[in-house]
Amino acid sequence: MTHTRSHSDGFGLLRLPTRIHFGNGAASAIAPLARELGRRVFVCCDPFLAETPQFERTCEELRDSGAVLQVWTEVEPELPVDSVQRAADAASVWGPELIIGFGGGSALDLAKLVALLRSHGGRLSDYYGENAVPGPITPVIAVPTTAGTGSEVTPVAVVSDPGRDLKVGISSPHLIPRFAVVDPTLTHGAPAAVTAHAGVDAFVHAIESYTAAVRAPEWTDQLPVFVGQNRLAGLLAEEAITVIAANLVRAVTDPDDDAARTEMAYGSLLAGMAFGSAGTHLSHAIQYPIGALTKTPHGLGTGLLLPHVLRGCRPDIDPALRRIGTLLGVSETGSDRALGAIRRIEQIVADIGIPASLAELGVRAEDLPDISARAAGISRLAGNVAAARPIERIPGIVTAAWRGDHI
Ligand SMILES: NC(=O)c1ccc[n+]([C@@H]2O[C@H](COP(=O)([O-])OP(=O)(O)OC[C@H]3O[C@@H](n4cnc5c(N)ncnc54)[C@H](O)[C@@H]3O)[C@@H](O)[C@H]2O)c1
Ligand SMILES: [Fe+2]
Repeated sequence: MTHTRSHSDGFGLLRLPTRIHFGNGAASAIAPLARELGRRVFVCCDPFLAETPQFERTCEELRDSGAVLQVWTEVEPELPVDSVQRAADAASVWGPELIIGFGGGSALDLAKLVALLRSHGGRLSDYYGENAVPGPITPVIAVPTTAGTGSEVTPVAVVSDPGRDLKVGISSPHLIPRFAVVDPTLTHGAPAAVTAHAGVDAFVHAIESYTAAVRAPEWTDQLPVFVGQNRLAGLLAEEAITVIAANLVRAVTDPDDDAARTEMAYGSLLAGMAFGSAGTHLSHAIQYPIGALTKTPHGLGTGLLLPHVLRGCRPDIDPALRRIGTLLGVSETGSDRALGAIRRIEQIVADIGIPASLAELGVRAEDLPDISARAAGISRLAGNVAAARPIERIPGIVTAAWRGDHI
């Protein structure tokens, strides 16, 4: 039986890689970690990163430690399913003992899915949805070069399937990489748009995991992949919100601000750890149909929507918003602190150049009912907010985001 509780009464859940190495220079840990898992390595590397000295150094260190590598650089944006299948076919010929993902979220998700298909065979569509992966997969070492998706620690990978309108997720604790190596210096060269879209998505991950539904799972063999807000995820989300709010604008506007980029790598890692158990909610549900319609980046959509989602869910999430206000240094008190928090979030989103309205993305007024209906259909996300009757709130949120209403 599920009953309502506040996360202060002791419920917590985290599922994580068995080791997380974070820090400037941490990429040197890849070779020794790989040696623990085997010699034959299949590396999924972003095509841009594959040409960089950092990646060459990593390959050299792997070879020096006795590894034999096959490097796969056909990482296509949005991960079309057939591109994943091709990579998995190549991997099955190679017969790796471990798989390394080196790049942005696309390369990391590819590594996770290649490991899945190598271990369990079949087609990706056999595993769509939650908890459809039958058991452990070939171990993955995830090395992110963007600060945003948190894929290096999360139980999910996202693909596009030409047979479906919306991108589709595969979620299972078995997809969590065995080791995560987060070296912020690898993110330092990312272009401003990638830094902005990936970075704001990490901010959304942190805030949505902190305002996710409050439920008590049954402690059965198979918990849902995303269990809603909880004490352990909340702790990580608070630190992620604080760090990202203080550094996102600097990381985007000053490409030479390495300190801000390092902080963003830290914040997005923590946000991934938080949402990997708590899950995300309405900004993500509404972004899926908008991304499909406008072909705009994921983080652009979730960042644009977040202030409207938070306003649309007040007052149910008022206590969490007040705590966020405190983390963000908002000076107002009482319920005004919650509004101040939303305004501050709205300002950060504007300062990194996210458009102010869905209309600016080319969405038309007549598209709105369909967007709302499709978002409502993604119940895993739409139902995961700590607000009563979330589905009923979606049309109002979508309309406000379309007009670009200010908070
Ligand atoms: N698994 C998860 O938990 C999760 C969460 C959110 C998003 N995602 C998925 O992640 C993908 C998006 O990931 P992303 O935002 O990291 O982008 P990406 O991996 O698609 O990369 C975007 C661009 O940035 C470039 N790039 C990456 N790192 C760079 C660097 N250090 N310097 C210069 N250029 C660099 C790449 O070459 C590419 O052109 C989407 O497919 C999305 O669905 C997954
Ligand atoms: Fe996201």
